[in-house]
Amino acid sequence: MKGKQAAGYRAVDWVEDGMTIGLGTGSTAYWAIQRIGERVKEGLKIRTVATSKASEKLARELNIPLFSAADIPWIDLTIDGADEVDPQMNLIKGGGGALFREKMVALQSDRLIVVADDAKEISVLGTFKLPIEVVPFASEWTFRNLQKRYDVPLEFRRQEEGIYITDNGNYIIDAAFGRIDDPKKLAAELKSITGVVDHGLFVEMAETTVIGHEDGTVSIRHKS
Ligand code: A5P
Repeated sequence: MKGKQAAGYRAVDWVEDGMTIGLGTGSTAYWAIQRIGERVKEGLKIRTVATSKASEKLARELNIPLFSAADIPWIDLTIDGADEVDPQMNLIKGGGGALFREKMVALQSDRLIVVADDAKEISVLGTFKLPIEVVPFASEWTFRNLQKRYDVPLEFRRQEEGIYITDNGNYIIDAAFGRIDDPKKLAAELKSITGVVDHGLFVEMAETTVIGHEDGTVSIRHKS
């Protein structure tokens, strides 16, 4: 918990007056949003766009000026979490189900700062199940296509009330690749499958990572 808080707080040091900020999703981005809320209260003037309904709600509660994507032409800086971070700063995201909006927002941003605790640092992506967002129509066909192509364990994400539905009204298939040796290739392949909306591989997108440790310190890396 302390590592997540430290990372979330530190990333907000890069937020400046006049910027448009992308608000990430999850328990680490939560701390960044809290810190942004504090700074807005102190007089920081920014515009924000959220990557999920949950982050939208949190921003509203903290009186952070929130805009819809249609009103935001470009984003200066997005601060978001990750489920896995590899040494090249490639990511798996989407554990919280917000991967599509997170990717849209990140792609529209000058800079993506990833905040995570040190448990998220791994040498090779793929231990965390890769979330793949799929259109509900004929999703069983998409499931079978993925199964045929990759032969790895797949499952539709579920929640208490039944199948999990994303903020975009889609389903998620979690894929246990185990080890993803070529994330760039897999990312492109998955994008080309009809029925797949997007997936949680964020390749060569992060500009900076802020990794928080349990003693409250952080390690910062920038893309070389
Ligand atoms: C949300 O869909 C995810 O991409 C999160 O950013 C990711 O799961 C990290 O979440 P935590 O910070 O809660 O671990």
